[in-house]
Amino acid sequence: MRILVLGGTRFLGRAVVDDAAGRGWSVTVFNRGSSGPAPERCEAVQGDRRNVADLARLAGHGPWDVVVDVPGVIPAEVRDAARVLAPLAGRYVFVSTVSAYQDWPAQPVDEGSPRRAGDPDVDVASWDWGAGVYGIYKAGAEAAVERETDGQALIIRPGVILGPWEYSGRLTWWLERIAAGGRFVAPGDPGTRIQPVDVRDVAAFVLDHAAAASTGVFNLAAPLDRDTFGGLIDACLAATGAAGAPVWVTDAQLQAADLREWTQPPLWRTATGTWQVDPSRALAAGFAPRPLADTVRDTWAWMQDGGEPFEDPRAAMHAIPVAIERVLLATAADAASLASGAK
Ligand SMILES: NC(=O)c1ccc[n+]([C@@H]2O[C@H](COP(=O)([O-])OP(=O)(O)OC[C@H]3O[C@@H](n4cnc5c(N)ncnc54)[C@H](OP(=O)(O)O)[C@@H]3O)[C@@H](O)[C@H]2O)c1
Repeated sequence: MRILVLGGTRFLGRAVVDDAAGRGWSVTVFNRGSSGPAPERCEAVQGDRRNVADLARLAGHGPWDVVVDVPGVIPAEVRDAARVLAPLAGRYVFVSTVSAYQDWPAQPVDEGSPRRAGDPDVDVASWDWGAGVYGIYKAGAEAAVERETDGQALIIRPGVILGPWEYSGRLTWWLERIAAGGRFVAPGDPGTRIQPVDVRDVAAFVLDHAAAASTGVFNLAAPLDRDTFGGLIDACLAATGAAGAPVWVTDAQLQAADLREWTQPPLWRTATGTWQVDPSRALAAGFAPRPLADTVRDTWAWMQDGGEPFEDPRAAMHAIPVAIERVLLATAADAASLASGAK
């Protein structure tokens, strides 16, 4: 198999490249070279996907059995890549997100749920996370890929992806905070269901289904009734060997402290549908999400081994500010001592 990976050097793209090379596939990566060197064992073509001449030069390295657009967000960029590359590819894969659903995170979603109204031709030079456009752009990008491939693309919609090389600062923050020891704030309720998936399992699904020439949309999330926030915390304690103690603070207390959902702390979000992404279509098609504890263990091992993620400004947003955590812990300690005095 010959595969072209648009991207390939930060997180999911890197996992796709590693897995494909491990399968003995011939791998080409296309990126600007600014996120670090291309993974070993692949042909690296440098260029900017916003530059039509660079895309035309890339096309000269084809054809491929599979093209995977891993990082595309801006619809016109995704469209232009698909327009040039889809005719040179047996199968075309686009990595989207559950944020493309109109009702996520407010409501549970499956592949039949409505998509946001995204324009496939929108072009902007840059965008930022704070603007709330991510899901709208991804929806437009999906529409662009569908149009350019006559509906023959494979579109995957992962929820939260964790694992080695994560650069958003979600699991890596939790591991660092818990490794620091002592009492720490844990959000909401230990029984809250969560559904992160391992980056390596997402990569494997993409490649398995590219090989099988699958088309259509697949959600990638852990089984609905498998993992909990308490399990994630326990796995972090086990992986780091830290003697810390979680202090569970209610959603209402976290909200009263003006903490920002999703980032302060990472993965805390109260909207009903956040962790109700139905993965049954992918599970039936062979998606095999490993135990969350394995992802946590391997991510910690990678960090301990000097793992240096791509530097992303979003990482700094993922944390409970120290001063707020101190107040929450002190309040919880006061409440506990009042309760024990009252007994
Ligand atoms: N993380 C999550 O929890 C999550 C959840 C759902 C969906 N997703 C989706 O999963 C994907 C993850 O992407 P990733 O960052 O892990 O992918 P990646 O392929 O590992 O890294 C991003 C790549 O894009 C390249 N790139 C950026 N701008 C470029 C440009 N103008 N021209 C050419 N190459 C360019 C970067 O290299 P250079 O900078 O060197 O050019 C880098 O190789 C995204 O589509 C994201 O929306 C993520």
